[in-house]
Amino acid sequence: METIVRKTDKNQIDTEVIREAGEILRNGGLVAFPTETVYGLGADALKEEAAKKTYEAKGRPSDNPLIVHIADYEDLKKIAVNIPAETDALAAHFWPGPLTMIFEKSDIVPYGTTGGLDTIAVRMPSDPIAAEVIRAAGGFVSAPSANTSGRPSPTTAQHVLEDLNGRIDMVIDGGSVDIGLESTILDMTVDPPMILRPGAITSDMFEEVIGPVSVDETILGSESEKAPKAPGMKYRHYAPKAKLIIVEGDLRDEILAIRQIAYAAHREGKPVGIIATDETLPFYKYGIVKNIGTRENEKTIARNLYRVLREFDEEAVDAIYSESFAMQGIGKAIMNRLEKAAGHLRVSAAAIVKEQRYRRIIFVSSTDSAQGPMAAELLRNEELEQEYVIDSRGMVVLFPEPANQKAEAIMKSAGMTLEDHSSRQFDDENLQNDVLVLAISDAIKNKILTEYKKAENVYTLNEFAGDSTEIPDPYGKPLTAYGECYEVLKALVRKVAEKLNVLAEGEE
Ligand code: TXA
Ligand code: MG
Repeated sequence: METIVRKTDKNQIDTEVIREAGEILRNGGLVAFPTETVYGLGADALKEEAAKKTYEAKGRPSDNPLIVHIADYEDLKKIAVNIPAETDALAAHFWPGPLTMIFEKSDIVPYGTTGGLDTIAVRMPSDPIAAEVIRAAGGFVSAPSANTSGRPSPTTAQHVLEDLNGRIDMVIDGGSVDIGLESTILDMTVDPPMILRPGAITSDMFEEVIGPVSVDETILGSESEKAPKAPGMKYRHYAPKAKLIIVEGDLRDEILAIRQIAYAAHREGKPVGIIATDETLPFYKYGIVKNIGTRENEKTIARNLYRVLREFDEEAVDAIYSESFAMQGIGKAIMNRLEKAAGHLRVSAAAIVKEQRYRRIIFVSSTDSAQGPMAAELLRNEELEQEYVIDSRGMVVLFPEPANQKAEAIMKSAGMTLEDHSSRQFDDENLQNDVLVLAISDAIKNKILTEYKKAENVYTLNEFAGDSTEIPDPYGKPLTAYGECYEVLKALVRKVAEKLNVLAEGEE
């Protein structure tokens, strides 16, 4: 089967595209279309045969019921019975929108659509393309997420095609979705209503409208032995190909733990994937790092989650480590999906962060333009057993400047570079108990000790390396002087690396 792809803009809907989609759906075909949550795979909800096709295309177990989408509130009464009184208030607040409600089904709904259940899940999406498609199809469109069963839900038409090209009749490309996670499911057949799947509409938001609701206890955490009440929630869903592991703890520990894991994996030549945020991105130097959004606005994280998981399928990684996210607002839904993608694989950051005498090493010279940055880059290129942030600073840096050109030329000829270097002033933030400060000369060391009373872990490079070879100052001299300086630094830095590795072994 050839899948027709048609583009349309939700602010200026192409009526011809809608007409074509409506005709396919009324004839029992399958059309994927955008909703505000994720792309749905539409079929006529009142045709038993259409539901069968949906399960086949997705490779989905047929005991996993579909959500029926409507465009007009009056239509609810045709497919659901014994609708509880609070429904009107909920619909007035949250429909059209990312809320699915479960009711007893009416007789016109075939069991094929509800996976054999006497209840029906109903949603009225707010995306205008979705609403028009539903009306053109006759009013009742079943639509699971338009992915192959087990893969992350699609947030673009491209994702739909990755999974279902050639297996469905049509895809309407309406661009990226807004929310990025599936709707909240609220079971209205129990009192008080119960959240079966967390989403953009949270329990606090329900509470403001109808008072307290309950939450299916299986939603979060691997502790529960019970089966979730929404049949679809029991499957390992949204799964990327690589093993996904959630690292939990306070953010500082999470970053340290992931950095150590990424460094060890890098040394073995098997990079890991890392799910990071705007705020934490700069802390990761090793591994394949993807930015999922900003912690200041968790909606951005929701929107990018499935895309990032899909992108990792294109990378040669066996394991992906993710930071965890706050459980406020949509955070609960984010963690719920992340845990399902991880098959509930979680590790405690604090438990895996290894004790390390030093986590950061700073070389200090006077202007941070030649000796310091050279030594730092040399150490970064050593085989170190532990992961360190390696930096350099200067005692008199008035404004940031690139590295000395001769120093850069010498490093280049040795296959390294100072291209990204920008000189920075040393300050007391660089003096902490897990920071090793290596001064290029006695004079610099003494200056630090006099200026900062509490300075600890301050050594000269010679002292720490246990080698008194004098480090020449090439400043203002020809290139050869920089070459000589490089040779001395290289030998000293090698000794520093050996000493650090001995310290590391003592800590294993
Ligand atoms: O945001 C959404 O809800 C998207 C878009 C396309 O609307 N749809 C979606 O559908 O996520 P799907 O099929 O991927 O997930 C439907 C979930 C499943 O976990 C299913 O078990 C549950 O809804 N469900 C459907 N009918 C149910 C019922 N009668 N009782 C309990 N759970 C039900
Ligand atoms: Mg789904």
